[in-house]
Amino acid sequence: MNNSAALSGDDFKQRSRDQWSANPCGAIAADGFEPGSREYFDAIENYRYEVYAPWMKRVIGFDGFRGKDLLEIGCGTGTDLLQFARAGARVTGLDLTPRSVEIAARRFEVHGLEGKFGIGDAENLAFPDASFDAVYSFGVLHHTPETGRAVSEIHRVLRPGGQALVMLYHRQSLHYWGGLVLKHGVLRGELLRYNLREIMSRHVEYGAVETLPLVKAYTWAEARRMFHEFASCEISVNQLTRSELRPFGRLLPERLFQWLAEGFGWNLVIRAAKSSR
Ligand SMILES: C[S@@+](CC[C@H](N)C(=O)[O-])C[C@H]1O[C@@H](n2cnc3c(N)ncnc32)[C@H](O)[C@@H]1O
Repeated sequence: MNNSAALSGDDFKQRSRDQWSANPCGAIAADGFEPGSREYFDAIENYRYEVYAPWMKRVIGFDGFRGKDLLEIGCGTGTDLLQFARAGARVTGLDLTPRSVEIAARRFEVHGLEGKFGIGDAENLAFPDASFDAVYSFGVLHHTPETGRAVSEIHRVLRPGGQALVMLYHRQSLHYWGGLVLKHGVLRGELLRYNLREIMSRHVEYGAVETLPLVKAYTWAEARRMFHEFASCEISVNQLTRSELRPFGRLLPERLFQWLAEGFGWNLVIRAAKSSR
């Protein structure tokens, strides 16, 4: 049973550590390879950018940060941090889960790349004000209890004119309404036992063990409000798979599919700039 209403912020953070210690981010794509080997990391990387989210390299623009000091919050196994480092950014990877930090550091060693790593909490960043040119966080801040506080921390550690690039789950999406609410909540009757946040927690992240991490999803307007301290903020919508649109997914013309993905995909990508003064 979840009983999530009775849990404190620290309990949820412990659930995050449990979840991502048991199931390192993306590692399911590397089943069968020796953990920590080059083949293991390559399998995670290929799956991410070729199968799971082919839009990522174009939308994130990893090579736009050459020569910049970039912090990634919630670096997981370091897949995206590696792209920034390869493209010439000076990178720091931070994560709440010690195992994530260990794996990400090992990955950089395997690739012969430089990076700094540390264990830390998005809600209380252990860096002085104005430490970074860019802060990146993908699929992380919707798992932390005080997401707004984490966004303020990002603003604080950015230098004037610095850029935040953050992915949060999107509530007005086909994944949320079709997959979570309709399929699991209504048709499978889970709404009789769980609230929607608990249903997300049960189904959104892959879990070989039942850790039930906190999962939240935001509307475009809620995300925009959370970034109110920033001088500018642009939000794009991404991440829809044809299999989510079964039985018609394979038949949809590409333009219609893209239109659906850009309106009702599962990921909000927020690009916000701190005032340069
Ligand atoms: C879904 S994984 C995403 C990892 C990586 N960004 C990626 O896309 O592969 C979530 C990661 O965020 C970390 N995390 C969760 N809450 C956090 C917090 N409050 N501060 C820092 N990291 C956190 C978890 O430990 C986990 O490694």
